[in-house]
Amino acid sequence: MSESASVTTWHYGLCARYWSEVVGEGGEDAERFRDLIEAPALDVGCGTGRLLVPFAQAGVDVDGADASADMLDYCRSNAARHGLTPAFYVQALHELDIERRYRTIYLCGTLGLGGPAFVGPGIERAYEHLTPGGRLVFDHYLPVGRDFRGWIEPPNLPQAWPEEGPREPLPDGSEISMVSRRVAFDPLTQETMSEIRLRLYENGELSLEETYPLTNSIVFWLELERMLTTAGFVDITCIDWETREPPEPWQSRRLLITATRPALP
Ligand SMILES: C[S@@+](CC[C@H](N)C(=O)[O-])C[C@H]1O[C@@H](n2cnc3c(N)ncnc32)[C@H](O)[C@@H]1O
Repeated sequence: MSESASVTTWHYGLCARYWSEVVGEGGEDAERFRDLIEAPALDVGCGTGRLLVPFAQAGVDVDGADASADMLDYCRSNAARHGLTPAFYVQALHELDIERRYRTIYLCGTLGLGGPAFVGPGIERAYEHLTPGGRLVFDHYLPVGRDFRGWIEPPNLPQAWPEEGPREPLPDGSEISMVSRRVAFDPLTQETMSEIRLRLYENGELSLEETYPLTNSIVFWLELERMLTTAGFVDITCIDWETREPPEPWQSRRLLITATRPALP
């Protein structure tokens, strides 16, 4: 297992295999992001290539970065299966250090993962890697709903592990199951800690079990907007992922955000 220093994410080992062989490629997220991307593009937190591989297949010049080398290994072989060889970097968002500059940097399901200290610096690194006039595009989940009663009273954590998840078939005939649980929530540092547990079954028998931790940052919209502005972004837009309209209090949960690095005068 190879990982980026200090980022606590659970996308290793069997979890990476689950993303590659169960979650797969394409789908609605890919379609939504595709319309917002101009090449050359960088997919940060590209994972096993759910978005990157179909984009590259469609002829988009796209590179990938991810904190987890395990996810990138799957991404590289998923791309290679289609004869594609994008550049890949084992780098977390806040550690981005790539020579190339991009017209679009996009993140799907990634901003905030790893820990709260990285979000502001991560947005700044993204800014540095955009060409003037280039755009940062990402989705973001607001901390609303049942899971966040912990803002008003101490939550009863850690949760018990749920019952075993459904066993999903893998291409080699084995099966994999996955469950996760919330372990801790700290309203001061705005962090949630969770765990994932995966089980691999071969010939119907449990052959491997792995558990990984994940730290997620709770970031509010006004905080995000301030971080984007501080980094130098302009033309910041934010819509509700579902309605495609401006976000509504109590309704909106997933946001789609774009921010532009100013063009040269
Ligand atoms: C939820 S998965 C999404 C993968 C892919 N974007 C997709 O939509 O299928 C999040 C990915 O972000 C990576 N990741 C987590 N924290 C990160 C960070 N701070 N910087 C870069 N990548 C990170 C994980 O290793 C994982 O591959």
